[in-house]
Amino acid sequence: MTDSNIHYPDLLRLDGKGFVVLGAGAGIGREVSRALTQNGAQVLCVDLKGEVAAETASLVGGLSMAADITQRAQLEQVFAKAKDSFGTRFSGVVDVVGITLPNFLPDYSDDDIDRQFDLVLKHAIMTIQIAGPMLAANGGGSITLIGSLAGFVSTRKALLYGLAKGAVHQLAAFAGHEFGPHGVRVNAVAPGRIQNSGTIFPDPDRWKAIEAAIPLGRVGTPADIAGPVLFLASDLARYVTGNTIAADGGISKVTALPSSLV
Ligand SMILES: NC(=O)c1ccc[n+]([C@@H]2O[C@H](COP(=O)([O-])OP(=O)(O)OC[C@H]3O[C@@H](n4cnc5c(N)ncnc54)[C@H](O)[C@@H]3O)[C@@H](O)[C@H]2O)c1
Repeated sequence: MTDSNIHYPDLLRLDGKGFVVLGAGAGIGREVSRALTQNGAQVLCVDLKGEVAAETASLVGGLSMAADITQRAQLEQVFAKAKDSFGTRFSGVVDVVGITLPNFLPDYSDDDIDRQFDLVLKHAIMTIQIAGPMLAANGGGSITLIGSLAGFVSTRKALLYGLAKGAVHQLAAFAGHEFGPHGVRVNAVAPGRIQNSGTIFPDPDRWKAIEAAIPLGRVGTPADIAGPVLFLASDLARYVTGNTIAADGGISKVTALPSSLV
């Protein structure tokens, strides 16, 4: 196809393709599952909690599976199921799982340090180790990771989480490089402040101050992340790899330094 023959809406379509969404039972993962299936994909919805994975699967007409993806053996079972279910149509993964263990640095135990890196980084590494070669064998595909604003800039009581998320962004760059020749694109989307079922709402004045600090004037929703994920999973992004797209209303581009100009 020459560029002049391209019909761009077709590049967004995922018809006939199978995707695995890790952490599909809530928030961003559920919305990503909706975005992928609305564009024709079939989705295997995976979550630690089988019942919420099944809820998302029923919402999007997909398959579901309970798994703790921080455990390699369970992650291998997830991708064995993807192979059984989709065969060579297995085309992509979105790894949404990530949890903050908030604390100040001196207060983390050795176990906390390991756990924080397990919950954010290690499963993303293992996902690429297992799914990357499978996608390559199928002729290519996409892996999309979820990073964070805290992977770019320091946020309160999130040092280890931010360190691990920064490493997720670098993981996309390195794995994009390594798997590029095999047709597998690896990217990340870095959310800013996203409102989900677990959002703690501070008093209205503080909430207003949070929204006022964000250039686009509001906290994000899961759909604000699912959109860029859909783009990266699709052939619209066929020449995009190794990148992290910030989806944060612009806040990562604003300095906290007060201006000296009036
Ligand atoms: N919400 C925000 O403000 C925000 C900001 C920046 C980055 N993020 C990142 O976005 C991603 C999703 O955030 P969210 O707010 O939608 O989270 P969420 O807590 O609403 O959903 C995460 C899902 O992952 C599942 N999960 C947790 N541990 C798992 C495991 N070991 N194995 C399988 N499934 C597991 C949970 O059961 C849950 O259904 C995370 O990576 C998070 O770090 C969120």
